[in-house]
Amino acid sequence: MTTVTTATTGTTGTTSVQAPSVGTGHTRVEGRDKVTGAARYAAEVPFADLAHGWLVLSTIARGRIVALDTDPVLAMPGVLAVLDHRNAPHLVTDYQGMLGTPDPTCAVFQHDRVPHLGWPVALVVAETSEQAREAAEALVVRYEEEPHEVELTGEHPDAYPVDGHMPAVTEKGDLDAQLAASAVVVDAEYTTPEEHHNPMEPHAATARWDDGRLEVIDSNQGVTWVAGELANLFSLDPASVRVRSEHVGGGFGSKGVRAHQVAAVMAATLLQRPVRVVLTRRQMFSLAGYRSPTTQRIRLGADPDGRLRALEHRSLSRTSTVYEFVEPSAGVARVMYDADAHHTANRVVRLDVPSPTYMRAPGEAPGSFALEAALDELAEKCGIDPIELRLRNEPETGPVSGLPFAGRNLAACFREGARRFGWADRDRRPGLRREGRWLLGTGTAAASFPSGAAPSTATATAHQDGTFTVRISAADIGTGARTALTLVAADALQVAPERIRMRIGDSDFGPAMIAGGSMGTRSWSWAVKTAAGELRERLALGADIPAEGLTVRSDTTEALGALAPAERHSFGAQFAEVAVDVTTGEVRVRRMLGIFAAGRIVNPLTARNQFLGGMIWGISMALHEEAARDRASGGPVGADLAGYHVATHADVPRIEADWIDDTDPDDPVGIKGIGEIGIVGAAAAVANAVWHATGVRHRSLPIRPDRVL
Ligand code: MOS
Repeated sequence: MTTVTTATTGTTGTTSVQAPSVGTGHTRVEGRDKVTGAARYAAEVPFADLAHGWLVLSTIARGRIVALDTDPVLAMPGVLAVLDHRNAPHLVTDYQGMLGTPDPTCAVFQHDRVPHLGWPVALVVAETSEQAREAAEALVVRYEEEPHEVELTGEHPDAYPVDGHMPAVTEKGDLDAQLAASAVVVDAEYTTPEEHHNPMEPHAATARWDDGRLEVIDSNQGVTWVAGELANLFSLDPASVRVRSEHVGGGFGSKGVRAHQVAAVMAATLLQRPVRVVLTRRQMFSLAGYRSPTTQRIRLGADPDGRLRALEHRSLSRTSTVYEFVEPSAGVARVMYDADAHHTANRVVRLDVPSPTYMRAPGEAPGSFALEAALDELAEKCGIDPIELRLRNEPETGPVSGLPFAGRNLAACFREGARRFGWADRDRRPGLRREGRWLLGTGTAAASFPSGAAPSTATATAHQDGTFTVRISAADIGTGARTALTLVAADALQVAPERIRMRIGDSDFGPAMIAGGSMGTRSWSWAVKTAAGELRERLALGADIPAEGLTVRSDTTEALGALAPAERHSFGAQFAEVAVDVTTGEVRVRRMLGIFAAGRIVNPLTARNQFLGGMIWGISMALHEEAARDRASGGPVGADLAGYHVATHADVPRIEADWIDDTDPDDPVGIKGIGEIGIVGAAAAVANAVWHATGVRHRSLPIRPDRVL
């Protein structure tokens, strides 16, 4: 930190020479609280008279509950109540929330149907967590079982196109004609498995009624969002619901409104005392959402020089029978490459499985694996360097939308990345480099992720002692958002960051965007800068600071409405070097580099962490992650961190993330958003490097040793 403060701040204003904070590395403002244990997470906030709820999940994959033998359980030590579909409060579910219709999995205990294994059938509430767990495990539930189907196959007769947050299908030009006219064709099917978010902190909520208001201490990605959903579900006045979520140990898309908050609110209402419900790691595999497996077919047709004539990207994913969620993997093709004929489609099939949901870079993560691997195959067939092939296919405008790009610095990312990675020395031919029992190879892939902002409100308050408090219903899910917003506020107020208290994670601070869609920090910064900037102006004009402080409120709805339509995205270039053990089939990533053009970087320290986290997840996706679902039971196999493999420290080699200057002229701070792009293209870069090492294409993830041999 370099701060040159010669500040004199009195009750009438601020005069200071303050070096900018945005763009300088700053450790997390709550870092000390986190490492000393002073920071309390949702399951740690103490309450007098706290009761504990334990969810009971179905052990069948499809059917009906015929009996719940609750009497013996109610007689067990400490047990206070058992909630199920016979005695639970009625919920309203036909509403449109912040992200549309809710997944009915959160609307617990409303009927006797079981749509998948791991469906919540009861909540046992007891004086202690241990008593609740013991009773929950003793509860006998009788079912009438029906046949189920959980397997996604290549082409399913019941698959249908689903829009989700983008149109399901886009079609431009005559695909067959362009493929027929192409000198070089790639036609390949790629698959990715069921993948699960595993934030370190499990989902947890404590609900209580406090003076006529419902208060929920929760671990989530947006208090505005969760408060709104709870108000809708329970038909409550939104002003009577307060959700707080001060510290969050990871989310990745999984932390919205889910069964545990709703069950906790039900129990707190019936018992009229605080009730806490925590999901176990195992329960998270059924109740936290996950990434659907995908089957993707890519057809590329090109002239001998690599120029694309035809591009088809068709994706099939899976959803539950109760909720329509599409993993929009074909969407990335609509941004990345143009072709005379350009067809994309996102389809789903409904099966007897838990509902999938948003998981870091939904669509782009699996979609970029397929598309960027196919580009690598095309480069091989054309005999062109894979970076050169991409540069030859850089579109002038949005391939599908026709809109101009508001900044597309992909080529600059490739140039900088190639230089730093040493790409120029690369021999394109596969399977040539050997070091003992290791075959060595390098690979690259492009990345992109949409850049957006959503309306948010913030307040900035000046205090008489020269400090400031900024309040916004933001969520710091580990990204460093709280610190980034502190830096943004510091610059807007032209003071040192140390003089700002950044308060987040409280729905009473007013509506704001969630930590999602890589839009959190951009949306919140816009509101924070607006409020803090106006406060500074008022202080500069000599406004008095009363005893309770001088407060300015912002709302960015109007400013965002004025943004001109454009293709707005962050971009990146991923590079990987792998070593493949010819005796065991093990793939080890030796080094990885990501260069991003992702708007102005607010805090280089935490931004680098965010990029690296995504890239490491890309390694994990390429080599390790795969949830097995047992066809016979319909349930997950090895639903824990022993059975579900994620990259560990030993799997992560020399890894670097950096960026080029890419300030967004349409954003008040210059931000584009960096939440998710780190994972995009990362798995493809690894897979392409495995091909370069071995000469064998792996089109199914993960690239396990048994698949390599
Ligand atoms: Mo993210 S998948 O938008 O939390």
